[in-house]
Amino acid sequence: MKQKLISTLFILSIIPSLSAFAQGTSFTVDSRTTFFIVTGFTLIIAILVLAVSIVVLQLLRTFVRQQAEKLAAERGEELVEEESAWSKMWAKLNDFRPMEEERELVLDHNYDGIRELDNHLPPWWKWLFYVTIIFGVVYLAAYHVFDTLPLQEEEYISQMEEADAANAARLANLPESNIDENNVTLVEDAALLAKGQQIFNLNCAQCHKESGGGGIGPNLTDDYWLHGGSISDIYKTIKVGVPEKGMISWEPLLSPEQMQNVSSYIITLKGTNPPGAKDPQGELYVPEEVTPEPAEESATDSTAVATL
Ligand code: HEC
Repeated sequence: MKQKLISTLFILSIIPSLSAFAQGTSFTVDSRTTFFIVTGFTLIIAILVLAVSIVVLQLLRTFVRQQAEKLAAERGEELVEEESAWSKMWAKLNDFRPMEEERELVLDHNYDGIRELDNHLPPWWKWLFYVTIIFGVVYLAAYHVFDTLPLQEEEYISQMEEADAANAARLANLPESNIDENNVTLVEDAALLAKGQQIFNLNCAQCHKESGGGGIGPNLTDDYWLHGGSISDIYKTIKVGVPEKGMISWEPLLSPEQMQNVSSYIITLKGTNPPGAKDPQGELYVPEEVTPEPAEESATDSTAVATL
């Protein structure tokens, strides 16, 4: 009783910690795993119920037999036990001639003293054999004749496709996170720049000052840059950081959108000349003039020359 109580308490105490574990590691159980867990539990419970029923039945039987023996004794008769269905079946399953009858089964031939018994196979063995034959036929028909069930390779391919589709769906649901230093663009939307400012004040101001004028980190408001002043240079510096100089990589902490916003915000600080700003460091960065496709112009020119 006491033991039971303790084990129940133990199980109860383990459940919340398990669910905490599940939440803490964002551990999700897919439907297949749930199926196996539920089936496993059902099986265990079924086995337990079966075991208990067998014990109860045995108890009942001994009780009934005792009663019957008592009744027989009262009448002065001897109790003749009827063969149970189970022992009848057992005998049927193991129906082969016993050792005592061997003499009748020995075949005539004799190879250097080795003789052969003509006993038949135990029925349980034969039935098992028939079952495997039936299984083989069903298997062949299902997998190779009617193609109703997938073969290993098809199953593998379909599972891989399923996983690919799940992955694509997961990626599609992510907020657009395909921004990197190669395709980052300058955002001009005020709301996004405000978000960038918020990130800057929260994470960057302790080293770069809220004004961007610089402290531990360099001045971000001038035209001189240690690692380049284009949007993609700034994005890359924030993303990979300069760990040996005390500027960490922000990739694990900020999303690509957040890094894009804060990079754009930094560019808006250019030329603000905040008081107490640090002296310029690095090289002068002159933004490339966006010239209207000069390559094409020269191409038309050259054709013009050629046609002359
Ligand atoms: C712990 C201090 C620290 C924090 C916090 C910090 N930085 Fe820096 N940052 C530095 C230092 C130091 C450098 C200069 C690295 C070097 O010398 O190469 C730097 C360099 C930079 C540069 C390159 C400047 C140049 O001249 O090329 C950018 C851009 C920058 N930081 C942006 C950020 C942003 C955005 C954040 C917040 C998300 C941030 N930093 C947070 C210390 C910091």
